[in-house]
Amino acid sequence: MNVINFISVPAKNTINQTFKGKEPWEIAGMTSITILTVVWFYNFIFQEESIVERIKKSALKMVRRIPAVRNKINSELKCLSESFEEEAINRTKALPYITSLPNQGIDLNEILKLVESSVYLGNYDWKNGRVSGCVYRNAETDLRTLVKEVYSLASLTNPLHPDIFPGVCKMEAEVVRIACQLFNGDGNSCGTMTTGGTESILMACKAFRDYARDVKGITRPEMVMPVTAHSAFDKAAQYLKIRVRAVQLDPDSYTVNIAAMKRAITRNTIMLVCSAPNFPYGTMDDIEAIAKLGLRYNVPVHVDACLGGFLICFMRAAGYSVPEFDFRLEGVCSISADTHKYGYAPKGSSVVLYRDKKYRHHQFTITTDWLGGIYGSPTVNGSRAGGIIAACWATLLYFGHEGYVQSTKKVIDTTRFIEQELRKMDGIYVFGTPVTSVIAIGSKFFDIYRLSQALNSRGWNLNPLQFPSALHICVTHVHTEPGVAQQFVHDMKEDVATILRNPSENAKGMYAIYGSSQSIADRSIVGEITKYFLDAVYYTPKEECTTVGKENRIEFKTSNEKLNSKLL
Ligand SMILES: *Cc1c(COP(=O)(O)O)cnc(C)c1O
Ligand SMILES: *[C@@H]1O[C@H](CO)[C@@H](O)[C@H](O)[C@H]1NC(C)=O
Ligand SMILES: *[C@@H]1O[C@H](CO)[C@@H](O)[C@H](O)[C@H]1NC(C)=O
Repeated sequence: MNVINFISVPAKNTINQTFKGKEPWEIAGMTSITILTVVWFYNFIFQEESIVERIKKSALKMVRRIPAVRNKINSELKCLSESFEEEAINRTKALPYITSLPNQGIDLNEILKLVESSVYLGNYDWKNGRVSGCVYRNAETDLRTLVKEVYSLASLTNPLHPDIFPGVCKMEAEVVRIACQLFNGDGNSCGTMTTGGTESILMACKAFRDYARDVKGITRPEMVMPVTAHSAFDKAAQYLKIRVRAVQLDPDSYTVNIAAMKRAITRNTIMLVCSAPNFPYGTMDDIEAIAKLGLRYNVPVHVDACLGGFLICFMRAAGYSVPEFDFRLEGVCSISADTHKYGYAPKGSSVVLYRDKKYRHHQFTITTDWLGGIYGSPTVNGSRAGGIIAACWATLLYFGHEGYVQSTKKVIDTTRFIEQELRKMDGIYVFGTPVTSVIAIGSKFFDIYRLSQALNSRGWNLNPLQFPSALHICVTHVHTEPGVAQQFVHDMKEDVATILRNPSENAKGMYAIYGSSQSIADRSIVGEITKYFLDAVYYTPKEECTTVGKENRIEFKTSNEKLNSKLL
């Protein structure tokens, strides 16, 4: 009672003093204005983006309003945009563009020829393992035939209609069950198939956001994730209006700092994210510790195993030790894993799994009052490709447990071999401990992008990383073919030695841009440049058109000068 008096008596006196002699309308007005100001202030402070970030952005925006600065930026952007388009044309090797529907349908063989010439465009020999990640297995003839047959059988089916296509729904249910079993889910575990890792992640974020809103009343959702978490989480945060609290790494292990993660948890936290393993460094966060945090603060934990999921769940059987990462840890509430990566299914499939149906319920989107009927759909799409589901299902059965274990053993053996050899080389270092198939390298002595450039001129394509500058190789089944890893190690050795002879030189061309773009403080400009890059991916010339000639063959009329000069 004393404490209450201690505070309330002076407060009472101050308020009475303030309103002394005021008329009732004045008191009501002042009270309303005070409340509105407090609410405005609260809304201003607590937004998805932190206040520091917003102040920085508006300052930079103001600078960009200065006419001289704006003109300079616009002309640079125009220039870049043109060079992106030129790159797009270069990439398609002057193959003519089709910009409108042909008047009549085209002959089947003609179409197949066009598809072939499109599919095999590009400078990298991905079939023979020159590319990091990207192509996870160069499908053997049997598997390819199987997938082709299965897809063509199922291409018209659509799981949106369980009454009409019960079989394809059963296949989806079985893929999900198989995955639950691989990740040690119990009878309550469940999930859905999606079209890829990004959608799986988006769905998990939606489920936890809505779960937190409905069960805990959280209306300003935040998620806590390592800075290494895949950018799909940022995408989900942007789509779903979730604030991201990014947590830094331990400098030695390149896994998330657990103490910092704990500090980032607030009463608005809807989920904790960790990766098994992450994309940039291939390291795995201490999922056991994070799962404990989840339990302690009653926050669901999502394990992103999109990349490594279908390796890591076979690693024990393949004779490697891995820390616990799946539903065996009580705090782990959901897992995303891509069947179209190390599951070797054709592109367009992934699974998102939950410990319990109560989470999956919040993934579903339901509209009860639509004029078209009650509409419930599990994922982003309405209609979904039954063919992809069937092809994924068939691929899982084609390999079987033993097939995946063998394949995992090969991929991990090859990765460990490459890692071992890289650690022996002077001038470069490996980030943390790669758990599955990704090895990231950096250098304290030279600009690592020069190594990219050198390897590129030998036909290798590695992934560049930033903050700090680094490269990684994601080893896939394609790299386990005889000689591929040896060749890679050999080329690395030579290139590193060459660069070390002259370590202070800088990277050139595109590689210099990678390096210097990190030092642009105004990230919105980097963002803008990226938008122009994406525009260029959708580039088609303005005037070109197609006609169907006499023999039902496609003929191109090109009026684009750049293209014409190349075609001649
Ligand atoms: C590939 C990947 C994703 C996203 O998957 P997509 O299939 O490309 O949408 C998410 N997380 C990690 C770690 C990945 O490697
Ligand atoms: C496109 O190719 C031409 C000729 O091969 C080359 O000179 C030019 O620099 C390339 N442009 C870009 C943007 O890569
Ligand atoms: C479904 O949605 C995804 C995005 O999540 C998209 O990539 C895909 O093409 C869509 N369509 C079908 C039929 O799956």
